[in-house]
Amino acid sequence: MKGFSFSVLTKIIYEENAVQTKLYSELKANNIKHPCIITDKGIAGCGLLSRITCELDKHDDIRYTVFDSVEVNPTEVEIDRGYSVAKAANCDAIIGFGGGSSLDSAKAIAMLMENGGEVLDYCTGKRTIEKPVRNLFEIPTTAGTGSEITKIFVVINSKTRFKAGFKNDLLAPNVAILDPMMLLGLPQHILAATCMDSLSHAIEGYTSKGANLMTDFYMEKSIAMIGENLRGAYANPGNIECQSNLMLACAINACAFQQSGLGLVHSMGHALGGRYNIPHGVSCSLCLPVAVDFNSISNPARFAKIAQMLGEAGFTGNANEDCHLAAKAIRRLMKDINLPMTLSDLKLSETDIPALVEDTMKATGMLGINGRNVCAGDVEKLWRELL
Ligand SMILES: [Fe+2]
Repeated sequence: MKGFSFSVLTKIIYEENAVQTKLYSELKANNIKHPCIITDKGIAGCGLLSRITCELDKHDDIRYTVFDSVEVNPTEVEIDRGYSVAKAANCDAIIGFGGGSSLDSAKAIAMLMENGGEVLDYCTGKRTIEKPVRNLFEIPTTAGTGSEITKIFVVINSKTRFKAGFKNDLLAPNVAILDPMMLLGLPQHILAATCMDSLSHAIEGYTSKGANLMTDFYMEKSIAMIGENLRGAYANPGNIECQSNLMLACAINACAFQQSGLGLVHSMGHALGGRYNIPHGVSCSLCLPVAVDFNSISNPARFAKIAQMLGEAGFTGNANEDCHLAAKAIRRLMKDINLPMTLSDLKLSETDIPALVEDTMKATGMLGINGRNVCAGDVEKLWRELL
């Protein structure tokens, strides 16, 4: 067996209503007096943000600043602005609250609070991160990103629209608060897309060249939990048991995908999301079945097992045939939860393909660890399959 290292550096707190019962005590335990809450206008407008602020308002020994200008697919412009706001207010902690865009932005801002400078300089290697993030609290309101646990953030260069991830052990959030009550009321289309992002993390991490025995345990559990709970949560968003399981499945695969790496789905998904400002979950979900089918011959038994964990039927016992059932199971799930299946569903066409191929091929790190070797010709074929 090849060697590996595995670490989860974040304290994970899971409990219904943890925002009410645990956030303040965690802040006090870390001697925090003035956090900056990083979120988006949707979260602020729908009343979710007030769950945190009402709680903090009960205590005289803590005040807070809110930066609610995070956009879907955040660029360096918002991140650098959020950093200026938190720094000007002399904040001593960062609370990320929302979906992946808010949690990633919070992580980048927490890095800048300790290390200074501008975020793109770190992504391009002009600057190196020297001090770990300190007092970063992440509270997800979706069950898709995993950013509450990972040592990774993703940012879009506003000039080139290229979406790149930045990974460093020093970026591990200090505390992740998983409160499934935050998921209640999530619009169905956001629940669907974000959970498919989570499923992409689990499948990619399970089938990448970086997978190992340890990450396999996490991924198998996570794939099965998503397969068992996503339809139920979509059909009845008030089903707290399904929502809790989806939130935990996301956290479980996040512990492992940051060790095993992602692959072709995220390389394609970032190209699509970055260039056309399509939400990350929608982009990854769209690319998931074609990339899974392409990858399936790299490890037929493993892909057949994915189909099994997702509850697919029609197995022949021949792994070379059964491996293709994985993509079939994913398409069936996507159909049930009304996700877009083609580029034309997103109003894109053949003329967009050269740029998508070019941007996909720039994700050399993720392509390098993908379970099957992949060239530009393969990528072009896959994008064409999605027309
Ligand atoms: Fe993702």
